[in-house]
Amino acid sequence: MKLILLGPPGAGKGTQAKRLEEKYGIVHLSTGDMLREAIASGSDLGKEVKEIVEKGALVPDAIIIQMIEARIAAPDCGKGFILDGFPRTVAQAEALDVMLTGKSLHIDHVIELAVEDAPLVKRISGRFSCAACGAGYHDEFKRPASEGVCDDCGGKAFNRRKDDNPETVKARLEAYHGQTAPILPYYREKGVLVTVDGMADFNAVTAAIEEALG
Ligand code: AP5
Repeated sequence: MKLILLGPPGAGKGTQAKRLEEKYGIVHLSTGDMLREAIASGSDLGKEVKEIVEKGALVPDAIIIQMIEARIAAPDCGKGFILDGFPRTVAQAEALDVMLTGKSLHIDHVIELAVEDAPLVKRISGRFSCAACGAGYHDEFKRPASEGVCDDCGGKAFNRRKDDNPETVKARLEAYHGQTAPILPYYREKGVLVTVDGMADFNAVTAAIEEALG
């Protein structure tokens, strides 16, 4: 199964992708995570994109397309994948189609997580993750069961993203509405788009996605 999760920053794409990865045994590919890893490693790619990511703008299409094309060619994507944060422009969506068509493949489902802008700032500014295993938490909605200890791996150090501040979130929302939302009609016309209420609680969102996937 090849699946795209679409939605504004903080809609829950990463949260739901991790759950689907476990349930369906397919790889979760987050272009945001790939870019943050490149930045943390200090690679040439990381140096090139650091400022763009930290101010909440979109990285140029050519860089992203090259990065994802290399990633989906890897053997672990053979069973399928969940794209989180890609495509983010119509040019990226078209390039993805060309990549897949060349391998006689296609996208099976596109799930839009529909969320209003106002609650997103609260969702994003409360978010943190385990420094060791990446498990995601939230100051208000999802605290570790034991304070200061990761539920999944027992780690005791946590990170907050540099682009998770109200000013940058505003820029990320503008990028979503201006450059990413125009993808929705592209997938609607292909008959693969299903919209799910991303404001519902975690489990209700997962159940709605699973129902859409059949
Ligand atoms: P990226 O990492 O993709 O960030 P994003 O799209 O802004 O999305 P987020 O990761 O912030 O949110 P999410 O939807 O995954 O929500 P989450 O599950 O964490 O991109 C970062 C940057 O990289 C971009 O700004 C850009 O610069 C660059 N980039 C990446 N891809 C690119 C591309 N293709 N082209 C160009 N540039 C690119 O949830 C958020 C919080 O809410 C969590 O704390 C969670 O616990 C909580 N939460 C989730 N669901 C619920 C719920 N149902 N109820 C209550 N709380 C919830």
